[in-house]
Amino acid sequence: MDIIIRANPEDVAAEAYEFVAAALTRKPDLTIGLATGRTPLGLYRLMRESRLDFSTARFFNLDEFAGLGQDHPASFHRYLAEQLLRWINVRSDHVRLLRGDSKDFRIECGGYEQAIRSCGGIDVQILGVGRNGHIGFNEPGSSLGSRTRIKTLEAQSIQEYASLFKSPDQVPRFCLTMGVGTIMEAKSVLLLATGREKADIVQRMIEGPVTAEVPGTALQFHPHGTVVLDEEAAQKLARREYWKWVYQNEWRVGM
Ligand code: F6R
Repeated sequence: MDIIIRANPEDVAAEAYEFVAAALTRKPDLTIGLATGRTPLGLYRLMRESRLDFSTARFFNLDEFAGLGQDHPASFHRYLAEQLLRWINVRSDHVRLLRGDSKDFRIECGGYEQAIRSCGGIDVQILGVGRNGHIGFNEPGSSLGSRTRIKTLEAQSIQEYASLFKSPDQVPRFCLTMGVGTIMEAKSVLLLATGREKADIVQRMIEGPVTAEVPGTALQFHPHGTVVLDEEAAQKLARREYWKWVYQNEWRVGM
C-alpha cells in the first residue's frame, strides 16, 4: 500500500482528485467505483467543478440501504446524484448503482457482479473506512472473499447513519454491498480517511494483522492500493514519518 499523509481534509481531497484525474487522462473510458459518506465529499466537489471529460467513463457504487428507492433522501443513489453525477457529463447508461428497492436482492447482487465483469472490471475504486473497520458495508466478520450481497448492519453503523433519517429506528437494518472480494478485484483502490476519530482504525487497518474482524485490512494484500490520510487520521501510525519521507523523496522525483 502507498500511504500519503497530507495536512488536512482539503489537501486529501486535492490529492485524491489528482489521482482520479491522472487515471482518467490515461484511460478516458475509466470505470470508477464510488463511495458515499462524509469523507469523499471534497473529492466529489473537485470532480464536479473540474473540466474533466467523463463522457466515456463508467460508474458503479459500493453499497445501498436495502429497501430505499433511488429518490429517498437518505439513499446513496440520491447522494451520488446530488454530490456528483448530475453535474458531470456522464452518460446515464454508463452509471450502474446498486438498487435498494429491487424486488429480489440475490438477482440484483448477481446482476451487479455481472455488470462489473462485462465492462472489464473497476479501474479505480474509491473507499472510505468505518470506525469499525468496514469497507463498503462489509461489517467486521465479513468474509475477505465475499461478493456483492445483502448484509446486516452493525448497531454502530446504524448509529453513524442515524442523522440521515428522521429517527434512528428508521435506519434500515440491511444493506446491499460489494463484497471484500469484489473490492479487491478493482485494478486500483483509493481509500481516504480524515479526522481524529479515524486514527485508531486507520492504524489497525494499515499496521495491524490482516483479519476479517477489520475488513479494511484485506487491502494490505492489494497490489495497487493507495491510502490518503490527513494528519489527524494518521496520528497513530508507527511508520508515519517514513511515509512522509517516501512521499517527499521517492514519489516526487519519480523513482
Ligand atoms: C459508503 C461506505 C462506507 C463509508 C464509511 C466511512 O459508501 O461504503 O464504508 O465509506 O462508513 O464513512 P464516512 O466517510 O462518512 O466516515
